[in-house]
Amino acid sequence: RPRVLSGIQPTAGSFHLGNYLGAVRQWVALQESHDAFYMVVDLHAITVPQEPAELRANTRLAAAQLLAAGLDPERCTLFVQSHVPEHAQLGWVMNCLTGFGEASRMTQFKDKSAKQGADRATVGLFTYPILQVADILLYQANEVPVGEDQRQHIELTRDLAERFNARFGETFTVPAPYILKETAKIYDLQDPGVKMSKSASTPKGLINLLDDPKATAKKVKSAVTDTDTVIRFDPVDKPGVSNLLTIMSTLTGTSVPDLERSYEGKMYGALKTDLAEIMVDFVTPFKTRTQEYLDDPETLDSLLAKGAEKARAVAAETLAQTYAKVGLLPAK
Ligand code: TYM
Repeated sequence: RPRVLSGIQPTAGSFHLGNYLGAVRQWVALQESHDAFYMVVDLHAITVPQEPAELRANTRLAAAQLLAAGLDPERCTLFVQSHVPEHAQLGWVMNCLTGFGEASRMTQFKDKSAKQGADRATVGLFTYPILQVADILLYQANEVPVGEDQRQHIELTRDLAERFNARFGETFTVPAPYILKETAKIYDLQDPGVKMSKSASTPKGLINLLDDPKATAKKVKSAVTDTDTVIRFDPVDKPGVSNLLTIMSTLTGTSVPDLERSYEGKMYGALKTDLAEIMVDFVTPFKTRTQEYLDDPETLDSLLAKGAEKARAVAAETLAQTYAKVGLLPAK
């Protein structure tokens, strides 16, 4: 079975619809066909200031949401990044292989550091993508299911894997991004020119899966469309409507052309009312299931401990090979 690996940050608490449709939904599907490793990337979360108690709670919350979304610990390896020390260890080796200029070209770093103010951004935020490289290479992943915003980090991973292999001999699998075209980028409901995200979106344009379902319905109903009235998929001229069609199509399994046909001659209001109902039907059980996992932290923690153990077996082997290849003296 080919292997996949991916990760999600616990920073924000609730996952948003972009996280789910762009990534987590694919994780759930891929556990059927792939040897799948999924993690909550708490080490990445501390690249920006964090409240310790909140980070701890949000790490469990992220794991609970992944389970609620359909990850099955019997069919995938689910773990917390900091439980597997090899991530930081391989991260160091990868830091020593990355050019300063190369790291400086990472657009997410440029965006995030600009937002924080250049003096406030940490070196950790700068090397964030390199830790992500280590995350992926440790597991010899063939594919990495993510949204479009992660493409550059996967490119960096490929570059570093190839560089290492060329310099020290065949060691790492060179991974490919697994990005579904339809859901690669889910847009803000109020500003369909920008991706839905915790930081960029207005609260009204951001659908948090754990929000009150009534509030979610309201956000969907007040989504920005355009002054035209035709329900047609056209991301350039009708980004708002197209985003709603993408979301509806993915949540219902009905193709976009079929949706266009069924809304022919209807108003935007009809589309939004229907989508609001579909969203409520989706988030309501999601919220309940998440709470059920949170209500039993002991089971959750032991499940994560088992996941870390499985992950470590793979990670330790890759790290040992890597250390040997670069010439670090083994401890006797
Ligand atoms: P994070 O936590 O920001 O986001 C988790 C996943 O959600 C996707 N995503 C979106 N997809 C479509 N439309 C959107 N509006 C949208 N917003 C977010 C992201 O692309 C991502 O797949 N650096 C990563 C975490 C990470 C990782 C890894 C991923 C750490 N190590 C190793 C893969 C492999 C991140 O910050 O994702």
